[in-house]
Amino acid sequence: MSKQEVILCESLEVSLGRAIEKCPHDRLFILTDEQTHRLCMPQMREVSFLKDAIEITIGAGDVHKTLETLASVWQILSDKGASRHSLLVNLGGGMVTDLGGFAAATFKRGFAYINVPTTLLAMVDASVGGKTGINFNGLKNEVGVFAPADSVLIETEFLRSLDAQNFFSGYAEMLKHGLISNEAHWAELLNFNTDLIDYKYLKKLVGESVQVKENIVEQDPFEHGIRKALNLGHTVGHAFESLALAENRPVLHGYAVAWGIVCELYLSHLKTGFPKEKMRQTIQFIKENYGSFTFDCKQYEQLYALMLHDKKNTAGVINFTLLKEIGDISINQTADKDQIFGMFDFYRECMGI
Ligand code: GLY
Repeated sequence: MSKQEVILCESLEVSLGRAIEKCPHDRLFILTDEQTHRLCMPQMREVSFLKDAIEITIGAGDVHKTLETLASVWQILSDKGASRHSLLVNLGGGMVTDLGGFAAATFKRGFAYINVPTTLLAMVDASVGGKTGINFNGLKNEVGVFAPADSVLIETEFLRSLDAQNFFSGYAEMLKHGLISNEAHWAELLNFNTDLIDYKYLKKLVGESVQVKENIVEQDPFEHGIRKALNLGHTVGHAFESLALAENRPVLHGYAVAWGIVCELYLSHLKTGFPKEKMRQTIQFIKENYGSFTFDCKQYEQLYALMLHDKKNTAGVINFTLLKEIGDISINQTADKDQIFGMFDFYRECMGI
């Protein structure tokens, strides 16, 4: 997989101009959703390089990350004469960058695309690393391909208009990057004042966070080994997310990941000796900022069944990424049913539910 260029922008206009110039094209498209069309597109229209771009707007939110939406994007690309030499700019959160990346990677067997993420989650995770796709058959990101963007342009000024819930959703992935990288970064994240955000400092933290992901993806772009480190918190997190969806009380992805981290740090302590005090400090931060996901012991079987269906498993064995220490990663770990139910007991007790 070719390496993508990730740029922490000083000026989005300048970086976007350069990124577009780097990709000679016959037609230029820009994909937005209803929100970024309304909130970000007016500013983007000022960028001279985009003045002739054909805008494609799709519905906002994960419910639109579907085959139907993808087909509607392919249809417009076809109607407007897109070719293998066209270029697509994806402007939006993870839904737009995932679906747009998939559309570009598959139309006429693929043409180049640039990601301009507008949410914290997309900046530090979804838009970087070449995973593209859509939901299918009730399963998240079930169909997709690895296809890196040519460039990812991170403009943290977009974060000033992000609501608190979307801020914390993205921050959970940053916390994960802190846990899998080094103690200094982890401590910086726990000490960051989330009540009164210093955006200049946040930009520095975002840069460090993206660097953690880039380093890992560079070593293992197709997730055969160390990229699984990025799954910390996600085995349980995805089960929480699916249960919440099934019970009609959807939660943001990053919240599910944060609660998943609580569970998987417990397993890390139990199975690989992760230090208790660092587990306590991380859980305290999550408890204070994310509240808790509620469930009772009658739902343990259902959560366990959801975890058994995770696409990260091999041969029906639940796959966990655990930590021995901050930055000391153990991939391909397993736990038996008793240990998993014990983990749910721990979660409920320490979250006070
Ligand atoms: N979101 C995890 C990964 O990109 O591998």
